[in-house]
Amino acid sequence: MIHNPGAEELLRARTLGFYTPRPGRRPAPRQTQEITYDIGELATTLNGLGIDPDSVVRMTKCISRRLVLLVELADGSAQLLKWPDSDTELDNDYEYVMLSLFDRLDFPAQTRAALPRLLAGGPETRVIALDVVRDCDPLSDLIRGRQPVDTGHLVRLAAVFAGLHRTPIAEAYAEYPEWLLWPPVPKTTDLSPYEYAHGCGMEFDVYIRTMQDLAPDFRELHDDWRPDSLVHFDMRDDNILIARDPDSPLPLRIIDWELAGFGDPRYDIGYLVGQFMMGALRRHGDMNASTSAQRNIRTFLTAYRRLSTLERADEERIFQYAGITLLLQASMRLQQLGALNRVGHLCLLYGRRLIQNPSPEVILR
Ligand SMILES: Nc1ncnc2c1ncn2[C@@H]1O[C@H](COP(=O)(O)OP(=O)(O)O)[C@@H](O)[C@H]1O
Ligand SMILES: [Mg+2]
Repeated sequence: MIHNPGAEELLRARTLGFYTPRPGRRPAPRQTQEITYDIGELATTLNGLGIDPDSVVRMTKCISRRLVLLVELADGSAQLLKWPDSDTELDNDYEYVMLSLFDRLDFPAQTRAALPRLLAGGPETRVIALDVVRDCDPLSDLIRGRQPVDTGHLVRLAAVFAGLHRTPIAEAYAEYPEWLLWPPVPKTTDLSPYEYAHGCGMEFDVYIRTMQDLAPDFRELHDDWRPDSLVHFDMRDDNILIARDPDSPLPLRIIDWELAGFGDPRYDIGYLVGQFMMGALRRHGDMNASTSAQRNIRTFLTAYRRLSTLERADEERIFQYAGITLLLQASMRLQQLGALNRVGHLCLLYGRRLIQNPSPEVILR
């Protein structure tokens, strides 16, 4: 990502799996860390966002490393307030700028309805207020269930992405050239002595050898990167919310646009395919999990293919990017758990296979 001055260095550290000294770095367990806030300060923030503190009937904290509050108001409406991350390098207003841009892009209606609306906030308050989807589940919960994800959800999701990817971006890109994204793979995999010495986890050696074997493929991904659309770039399954009521006027919502920019649409699609694959790898040995993953991927890709103009080579790229997602997962395990464990080894094995032989049969049998 280019927005960030140390971006190239961070990208190497993240994808090649070594520690790098960064200001404000902390282990950040996502769910357990209590964030304290001062009620007086909160009232100032609410006022700054145009919300009367006396009209608040309930506040619920959402799961996040940062402070994210669901605020319910006396008139029955609700807003989601999102504070910036306190990690120095993540403390920015990218999401505010990106969400402001949405109102100027010419999205198809179904896609626009699936994107958050900015209600208030900005550089002065540092907090953003968004519209809320009520009674929804993250896609991650549905992937972890025993059944394949409902076909209707997958087809709607594919339609939202197809709409996002065909929305013209030339004008916006001319205005924000610094929002150009690159594939999240290192350009070179030769390590400096510092990088070798700071490799993370017990199996850093195994991990880095796999990455080095894939260096020619990474170069090809860089050469063939087509930054033609707006891409989300962090298409994790917990960033997709699905309404429980199938007749809901807002059936799904794609949240968390902090890393978004102009990039290759095949990356978002590959990332999502990778999330479905992770559902099977996390429950390795469970036939149900692998059957569900196959169904989810086939249904989603069939719908996306019909709604967009995918060629065979594009599908191969999508599977390669799914492989990249698995490698990123392995690197994250080394950095956070200190070991690949069984799931990390599977991610490494299948990630490599998908990149070298990008076809669904690699993982879907
Ligand atoms: N518009 C929204 N409607 C309902 N819940 C939301 C909305 N936006 C975020 N959330 C909830 O807040 C959590 C964190 O928000 P998110 O934007 O994903 O931030 P991050 O992952 O960077 O902490 C989400 O996982 C979800 O549970
Ligand atoms: Mg999120």
